[in-house]
Amino acid sequence: MRVPLIAGNWKMNGSLALVEQFGQAFSKANLSSSIDMAILPPLPYLAAAQTAFEETPLWLGAQTVNPEPSGAYTGEVSASMLSEFGVRYVLVGHSERRSLYYEDDQAVLARTQAILNAGLTPILCVGETLAERDEGRTEAIVLNQVKAVFDALDARERQHVVIAYEPVWAIGTGRTATPEQAQAVHAAIRACLGDYDEQMASTLRLLYGGSMKRENAAELLAQPDIDGGLIGGASLKVDDFLAICQSVG
Ligand code: 13P
Repeated sequence: MRVPLIAGNWKMNGSLALVEQFGQAFSKANLSSSIDMAILPPLPYLAAAQTAFEETPLWLGAQTVNPEPSGAYTGEVSASMLSEFGVRYVLVGHSERRSLYYEDDQAVLARTQAILNAGLTPILCVGETLAERDEGRTEAIVLNQVKAVFDALDARERQHVVIAYEPVWAIGTGRTATPEQAQAVHAAIRACLGDYDEQMASTLRLLYGGSMKRENAAELLAQPDIDGGLIGGASLKVDDFLAICQSVG
């Protein structure tokens, strides 16, 4: 019912050579046609990746976007520019953008709307810090981040969003949420989406991110409300990323 999505967020890593390596490996890999797979490289690699991924099942994604359509915003890119390079998915609200570049819920909403207006799919990232989890506020924090966007979208827009739950304490730390911890938050997110629309809640894809790797992917992806993964470090090694794609049950 929900097509799994495995997305590799390269962050500020990779090279043209890595783009080529992924293109070659994925053009001959044995992969299920019933999952979506995407690589989100740094922006300068989009053109090369568009060409390298042509004969592969890989979709292309971007890690950020400016909410404005054009103008004097030095260093920024618009959603329509991403669209010109065949981008399908765009991250928004990643914890690194929230903490390092001060993107608050309002900024996250504006970007989500710009992505949707360009006909692209936002991957809305949400997640709590370790202190927030220890204080028992995980659900409140995560659901507030979801509602900050979903309250402002209309019914048609909501169904085009992908949500990625990424506990901040699990990102790049090697410390993964247990399948039970991740499933509990995913179930809470889906229940919250059900307050908007049951049909949308049952079809919207919820990804898990945070130290997902080939060793733990299968049991995380086997959880009933985990519909895919947002992979950081392990998406930089073609064999590891392939193994994760192949572990979707
Ligand atoms: P790691 O897989 O390196 O923990 O990164 C997760 C992430 O932030 C993906 O967006």
